[in-house]
Amino acid sequence: MKLVSIVGTNSNESTNRRLLQFMQAHFSEQAFIEVCEIKDLPAFNEPEDKTAPAGIKELSDKIQSADGVIISTPEYDHAIPAALKSALEWLSYTTRPLIDKPVMIVGASHGALGSSRAQAHLRQILDSPELKARIMPSSEFLLGRSLDAFDEEGHLVYEDKVKELDECFDEFSLFVEMTNQLVKDHRFKAEKNKQFSWEQVADGGSI
Ligand SMILES: Cc1cc2nc3c(=O)[nH]c(=O)nc-3n(C[C@H](O)[C@H](O)[C@H](O)COP(=O)(O)O)c2cc1C
Repeated sequence: MKLVSIVGTNSNESTNRRLLQFMQAHFSEQAFIEVCEIKDLPAFNEPEDKTAPAGIKELSDKIQSADGVIISTPEYDHAIPAALKSALEWLSYTTRPLIDKPVMIVGASHGALGSSRAQAHLRQILDSPELKARIMPSSEFLLGRSLDAFDEEGHLVYEDKVKELDECFDEFSLFVEMTNQLVKDHRFKAEKNKQFSWEQVADGGSI
């Protein structure tokens, strides 16, 4: 299984990055997980020619050819970071590689709540017409107190959290397989979402 994981921040020091690096090593026998950065991407600015900047094109191609995607989000002011929102805006405005892609949401925060509100926010965003990812349902992996969560070698030191992550990842592996099977022959809605435009909605089209 080939997965792309996205570090949902432009911060140089991030426990969400450490979480994905841990997952990359910890699940290396079950999946190849590439850790992708959004930190050098430009802020979304709706260019008229709809051309994706090079970094977005590269990320989009990786998502397109992956079996699934993992997004790790911090929480800023009860929401996802602007840098992550901007990356998603580029993807939705240009190549739309997340349509029908199995996605697992995880997140880490310094406080106790583990980015729960940001994860709910991300779920809602990923369900928009141009993103329309297949988000793993009824599943959250919330890593609270993330500043103390990793040792010097990058191991997750909270044993209960490792067990929880193992279960979530097992479920996600199955979810990836089942979802890709499910969407394989059902391309009508996916094609509709690829063509979707908000201008059509203004003219009476449907979402
Ligand atoms: C401006 C700002 C707002 C924040 N808002 C929240 C918040 O709403 N909820 C929360 O749990 N942590 C909040 N934090 C704390 C951490 O940044 C947050 O826990 C983040 O998920 C840590 O992720 P990182 O280690 O990947 O940078 C905030 C921090 C800053 C600087």
